[in-house]
Amino acid sequence: MEIIKTKNNDELSAKAAEIIADKVKSMDKPVLGLATGSTPVVTYEKLIEKVKAEEVSFKNVKTFNLDEYIGLSGEHENSYRYFMNDILFNHIDIDLKNTYIPNGLAEDAAEECAAYEALIKAEGPIDLQILGLGLNGHIAFNEPGSSFEGRTQETKLTASTIEANARFFDSMDEVPTTAVTMGIGTILEAKEILLLVQGEAKAEILKEVLNGPVTEDVPGSILQKHPNVTVITDIEL
Ligand code: GLP
Repeated sequence: MEIIKTKNNDELSAKAAEIIADKVKSMDKPVLGLATGSTPVVTYEKLIEKVKAEEVSFKNVKTFNLDEYIGLSGEHENSYRYFMNDILFNHIDIDLKNTYIPNGLAEDAAEECAAYEALIKAEGPIDLQILGLGLNGHIAFNEPGSSFEGRTQETKLTASTIEANARFFDSMDEVPTTAVTMGIGTILEAKEILLLVQGEAKAEILKEVLNGPVTEDVPGSILQKHPNVTVITDIEL
């Protein structure tokens, strides 16, 4: 595991954007795994700048997002589809048809999960997976206790995750309580993983992820076993 320590979020994001852009430039048909949350926002802004400066093109890129809330349509401003279009896809030269995110309104969630999993198999493997870290150690929406072998599945969000994500909604009651998430087993099949962790609030959990026992109680700890992980953080370790 390589750990890159940065001074602040701007430097973290610049480094992350550079690694992503280099990966895209180095391949004919790159497949990226993308994350939502606040952490990658500035990274995405920096990627947009690079596309506008014609340093990199996303014309041949396919993307798979990690997760989506169940019950929100892609037009809902709190859905991850809306977020990704708004914050990245609408500003770069990617074909929206090549951006995959689970459908939060699928009639049959289990079928949607199986279809998403099959799509990753068909188009993958994912060359570079971007990950954030939840305050409780979750990756994507794999909450503590999730199996390390899990595939794309429906999951119940914990009270702490609902509370953490309430900041994006008008009230706690509006935060969805279930989601579709790539499983940890699916995530681990990415050839390379870039974990971005920003802000002192995550200091303790990041230490557990990096140095603690590998346990399903701390989902991110499994990254210790992946052969190609880079962590970028502005946290003093
Ligand atoms: C959500 C997402 C995760 C993300 C996490 C951390 O729960 N499903 O993929 O990593 O939030 O978000 P933030 O970066 O806002 O702290």
